[in-house]
Amino acid sequence: MAFNQEHFAQLIDEFTVNSEQLREIAADFRYDLRLGLKNPDESSLRMLKSYLGLPSGKETGEYLALDFGGTNLRVLRIKLMGEGKFEVLKKVAKPLKVEGVYDFIGADSTAEEMFDFIAELVDEAIDGDHEKKYLLGHTFSFPSEQTNLYNAKLIIWTKEFATPGVEGKVVNDLLKEALHRQGIDNVEPTAVINDTVAVLLAAAYKQPDIYIGSIYATGHNTCYLEPYAESGDAPMILNLESGGFMKLVPSRLDIEYDEASEKPGEQRLEKMVSGRYMGELFGMAMAELLEEKGKNYGFTSIDMSNIINEADKVAEIIKAKTGHDIAAEDVEKVQKLASTLVIRSARLVTASFVGIIWQQAGSGKAQKQHIAIDGSVYEKMPLAKENIMRALSELLGEEAAVIDTVLENGGSGLGAAIAAAMSQK
Ligand code: BGC
Repeated sequence: MAFNQEHFAQLIDEFTVNSEQLREIAADFRYDLRLGLKNPDESSLRMLKSYLGLPSGKETGEYLALDFGGTNLRVLRIKLMGEGKFEVLKKVAKPLKVEGVYDFIGADSTAEEMFDFIAELVDEAIDGDHEKKYLLGHTFSFPSEQTNLYNAKLIIWTKEFATPGVEGKVVNDLLKEALHRQGIDNVEPTAVINDTVAVLLAAAYKQPDIYIGSIYATGHNTCYLEPYAESGDAPMILNLESGGFMKLVPSRLDIEYDEASEKPGEQRLEKMVSGRYMGELFGMAMAELLEEKGKNYGFTSIDMSNIINEADKVAEIIKAKTGHDIAAEDVEKVQKLASTLVIRSARLVTASFVGIIWQQAGSGKAQKQHIAIDGSVYEKMPLAKENIMRALSELLGEEAAVIDTVLENGGSGLGAAIAAAMSQK
């Protein structure tokens, strides 16, 4: 069966963001930033305070870092040596969910079970030593309202997490109680940061000119160093929770997906750009093309990456996921569909970066900087990086020459250790 050409063209059109729309989205993002600085309740950006500025680069010592932000939980013991140098002394990792075995992120789990599981992993990272004192930095990659560096309350789960009893709670209290239940009183959680903040801290520890940190992976979000030039307050990193940005042009399928998701109406940008969702949107479009609307084939962003990279594997991948043989002439179309979604994603992410760059620049020129990004979509998805660079030029023209992006791999762990070090001040 060959695809209906008209329907295919319509899908591509619906998933394309043209130059004019791109510029409008960047301008709206900047507008929401300014609104959010005055009154976050009126903005679709949460603008959450981190209570941290940039690291000095002189942070030293041994710390524990908990990286809790996706299905894979990690605890690291990290030695900071200053000047961008560090050593990972130990690293342990476990998924929070193993299909058919256990699930600490579903609606049937409890907060206590979830945090007991985390405390067990902390115990592994310290080799069961309940004597030596450790400060623990916690990268908690969900929207959290902070009143200081320690006290962060989960506002709302994202990334389809559904564990009851955590929303509205101070996550480090839950962690502390779980550590205590297991006799681990020598580990003191002292800092909670978002993963975007961790990326910014980790990159800024190693090199100058870092003011924006972003995650472009299962989830998506960005933070930046707000200079507070007008008020004269000390600069502070703000977690925008940019995945919740709303002033977009969602397609028909984006709207359908959102309506059926765990949290309809929330995380609209994230649902259009991040790895967790891109595969699903691709699957929804494929189901229409295969005239099986509503069927869930379980496509992932990794399938999309393979589809874009290897034309000769496309038919095989589609057959394995959908059971359908596609016509030879449709292979290119399947590739085009996947590419269009990735390009849209990269362009929307860039529009948000440019909104921040315009805000930083005020009425002047864009400042020289490297945007620090971590995440599998940025790192591995074909077409992502090049389309970020292209969209930067499209929006900033010549000024794009002073801006580039750098991969900050594993920033969540290192950033948490740096935050723990900074908590001692
Ligand atoms: C969360 C953010 C996080 C991002 C990347 C989003 O779903 O709301 O807090 O930074 O995912 O992990």
